[in-house]
Amino acid sequence: MLRALTVVLSAGAACVSGYPGMDKLLSEIQSRQSTGDSTELIGDLLDLSDSQLTPVGSAVKQIITGGASGQSSDTYLSVPPLGTPACAADTCCIWQYVSNDMASHFRGSAGRCNDLARQAVRLGFHDAAGWSKAAGPHGGGGADGSIVLAAAEMQRPANRGLETIVAQMQTWYGTYHGYGVSMADLIQMGAITATVVCPLGPRVRFFAGRNDSAVAAPDGLLPSPSESADVLISRFHNMTIEPNGLTALVGAHTTSQQQFVDPSRAGDPQDSTPGVWDVLFYKQILGTAPPRVFKFQSDINLSKDSRCASEFQAFAASGGQAPWNVVSVTLKTMLLSMSSSVLVVVATNM
Ligand code: HEM
Ligand SMILES: *[C@@H]1O[C@H](CO)[C@@H](O)[C@H](O)[C@H]1NC(C)=O
Ligand SMILES: *[C@@H]1O[C@H](CO)[C@@H](O)[C@H](O)[C@H]1NC(C)=O
Ligand SMILES: *[C@@H]1O[C@H](CO)[C@@H](O)[C@H](O)[C@H]1NC(C)=O
Repeated sequence: MLRALTVVLSAGAACVSGYPGMDKLLSEIQSRQSTGDSTELIGDLLDLSDSQLTPVGSAVKQIITGGASGQSSDTYLSVPPLGTPACAADTCCIWQYVSNDMASHFRGSAGRCNDLARQAVRLGFHDAAGWSKAAGPHGGGGADGSIVLAAAEMQRPANRGLETIVAQMQTWYGTYHGYGVSMADLIQMGAITATVVCPLGPRVRFFAGRNDSAVAAPDGLLPSPSESADVLISRFHNMTIEPNGLTALVGAHTTSQQQFVDPSRAGDPQDSTPGVWDVLFYKQILGTAPPRVFKFQSDINLSKDSRCASEFQAFAASGGQAPWNVVSVTLKTMLLSMSSSVLVVVATNM
């Protein structure tokens, strides 16, 4: 059975206060995103009619197509004790324990998100993005846990730097698998929890039910920082993510600290505040940044490409944080469901 769950963490629960012009900026960004940008359905959401969808399937469909929010401020009160029949009977219960455990590993002493959190966000992307429309509408691979479960994936250079979070995921799997938790879901819960632990990070709705696979995802699908905007846009298009959506997602580099692009500058961040989920990344890619900020050529080139430039500027503008959170959350929900199996399960098991 599947249940929708909201990550329950105080870090992300703070409301974003309004300011003049926010509604206008938000509606401009949303209209750009909704005019065909990144609203394409995948998996069995393509094949099934609305009446065949479970409530979770329908929620995912609405989030992808822009009809519902991917954020939530719900809190989960009176969580039953771990290991009790009451906990086992409530799909969300175990995830509250998982999320609390993860959050304690992702928060640094200054209250910002730490290296493990950065890796967790990237791991969620790299598991999900081993997926391509070129393999058919169901894509193959996707958010299926294979980045941890199939040893071959972590041998690939594109996944260098994820070793610590992979080892931690194996530990968490050992602790929680007995409660019915899949590796695929753990990885995506890790990405969502890490995001909200970063101050200003959105609180993303979580959907459980992904099946695991120990078959390595097709190789060669992950983006590289030396690729042109054309190639990157084509890659994300093949994951049903269009230029505005790519621009929103790549803002995850707000928390990044590169190791291998230039090893002589290992640890240098991609904006000056890698512990905070802010829009400074967009501002600094477009403008000037302190010398320690290491800009990826891919981020620079995307920001200048005519298909991404206006969205880059909108997120960088004063007031860009709230619209960025809204849009990136919607996309993240899509990305995290990017696996035919989760959608089949979503549609049929509840
Ligand atoms: C144009 C597409 C993208 C390219 C070319 C790209 C490339 C990279 C590279 C080269 C690194 C540094 C790896 C290292 O040397 O340690 C990195 C880090 C990171 N990327 Fe991306 N990325 C892309 C999109 C994304 C997306 C869509 C997400 C998440 C939704 C993401 C999340 C991250 C995170 C969180 C880190 C930091 C990891 C850490 O500091 O440990 N990236 N990315
Ligand atoms: C990135 O942009 C620069 C400047 O426009 C250009 O010289 C370079 O070839 C681009 N890189 C790629 C990989 O397209
Ligand atoms: C996207 O998929 C098409 C096939 O549908 C393929 O020709 C193209 O090379 C893919 N793009 C990238 C960057 O791999
Ligand atoms: C997921 O796994 C369950 C249990 O093994 C299986 O019954 C179900 O068919 C699987 N779903 C998909 C879409 O593979």
